[in-house]
Amino acid sequence: MRTPFIAGNWKMFKTVHEAVVYAKEFRSMVKDVAGVEIVVAPTCLAVHAVAEALRNSNVAVAAQDLHWEREGAFTGAVSAPMIKEAGAEFVIIGHSERRRLFGETDEAVNRKLLAALAANLGPIVCVGETLEERDAEQTLAVLDRQLKLGLEGLTADQVADLVIAYEPVWAIGTGKVATAAQAQDAHAHIRGRVRQWFGGTAAERCHIVYGGSVKPDNIGELIQEPDVDGALVGGASLDVKGFSEIVLKSQGTARPGRS
Ligand code: PGA
Repeated sequence: MRTPFIAGNWKMFKTVHEAVVYAKEFRSMVKDVAGVEIVVAPTCLAVHAVAEALRNSNVAVAAQDLHWEREGAFTGAVSAPMIKEAGAEFVIIGHSERRRLFGETDEAVNRKLLAALAANLGPIVCVGETLEERDAEQTLAVLDRQLKLGLEGLTADQVADLVIAYEPVWAIGTGKVATAAQAQDAHAHIRGRVRQWFGGTAAERCHIVYGGSVKPDNIGELIQEPDVDGALVGGASLDVKGFSEIVLKSQGTARPGRS
């Protein structure tokens, strides 16, 4: 069943204490929500405490990044088994901020993806074009490259369980949300490539979520699109009421096409 998937990416916001306060309030606000997969991604420092605060709830925890090695001399890095042990079930990989500010390549994304899968963490893999690339009509070519190299070596079963986040870089943190039609076009293209490369079952089962200035007042329109299976929410997820509203508005959007 392809139920809607809503994840909040807190980026480098919230101390451990602030994150736990949020988690406790949030769990009670969404406790009656059914049929939505709900995830929050605090800084890696707060993953453990937030996972404890959300234990036995309907909200899972994601880390925002990982290193592909299990352990070693990689100052400042954390590995998939460490994240898993701390209580995360998911990990964001290849966010555009990691690509742009930390030089992350498609090859690095691929290594991280394989490491996450090996540790039984659910990857949320981000792809998306910059404004220059969109203006140069390169959007689909960029998505193809990021997906082809990023998903290299994955099995159809692994791809079926993936969450792919389409996040046009020009829409992240800018207040400029893609129109529902723009999102649908990109999502349909991504699903088409998954079908071509990994088969029909993987294409029908994998989640393709939209990210980029998602707010309580635009989620409804986006999630009505047949290939928009949810959202990766940045800024608007920092506010517990706003994020709860986004989750609540995503209820009941699993439909026959999403099975
Ligand atoms: P935004 O960020 O919702 O603040 O645009 C989305 C993201 O970066 O995942």
